[in-house]
Amino acid sequence: MPKVMVIQTSQALQQFREKLKDASLSLGFVPTMGALHQGHVSLIEKSCQENDFTLVSIFVNPKQFNNSEDLQKYPRDLKSDIQLLNGLKNCVVFAPTEADLYPENDGFIPMELGDIGRVLEGAFRPGHFEGVVHVVHNLFRLVSADRAYFGQKDFQQLAIIRLLTNHFGFQTEIIACPTVREPNGLAMSSRNMRLGEQERKDALIIIHVLRKIASLKNQVSIKEALVQAQAFFSSGKLSLEYLAIVDPETLQELNEWKENQICCIAAHCGSVRLIDNLLF
Ligand code: PAF
Repeated sequence: MPKVMVIQTSQALQQFREKLKDASLSLGFVPTMGALHQGHVSLIEKSCQENDFTLVSIFVNPKQFNNSEDLQKYPRDLKSDIQLLNGLKNCVVFAPTEADLYPENDGFIPMELGDIGRVLEGAFRPGHFEGVVHVVHNLFRLVSADRAYFGQKDFQQLAIIRLLTNHFGFQTEIIACPTVREPNGLAMSSRNMRLGEQERKDALIIIHVLRKIASLKNQVSIKEALVQAQAFFSSGKLSLEYLAIVDPETLQELNEWKENQICCIAAHCGSVRLIDNLLF
């Protein structure tokens, strides 16, 4: 079984990148914070199918955590991440240090995120997207990939990454990939590793409430659908942070049903914050 190569410095990454360019080989990029699961594997496999090489970055980005306990408890296991990738053809890991990704001469100039950055996660996790934009900008600049793959579970992040790609003029094509779920409907997430057995069952109310809202489309008003959904949600054990039906383009709340909308949710299951969404 081929062992995955691990690149640890931005200098080594640049050399690797140059070699691919000289040989006219394409590069797909899957940025992650590690604690890899089948959701990540589906992005990586898609990239492997569509590119000559795939680079998976593993870096827990301190700048995108607005809660120090959340940062401290974020699961980290580079060894098992690497094991999971061993055997994938032409897959390379980039595991940089903080100093490598945020050098002293970091030329990053923050961008204005506008309305899309102020709602949902932006409202509840101040500074989060600014941190995501900073790290993805620095990664995109270093990696200069042909394509980059992001999961739709982080729907708002995906929208913001499209904005940053345009804003900074990156030539990387952004590929959105569907959320991968457990057979029972729980969206795969690195944070699920911190859920106990009972909490995993309790967390299913998230997908159930999303499906309930989708079933109410055009049956009752959006306002009434949210009232019913919130009542249903409060019969479970999780505590709700937000539940909103928004326009998939602008992410602003809707008052009337449209052909396409997305329902986004964030909730705490014990000490673990989970997000999910359903497009319908
Ligand atoms: O989605 C994630 O795992 C992170 O937000 C990302 C894109 C790797 C940036 O740190």
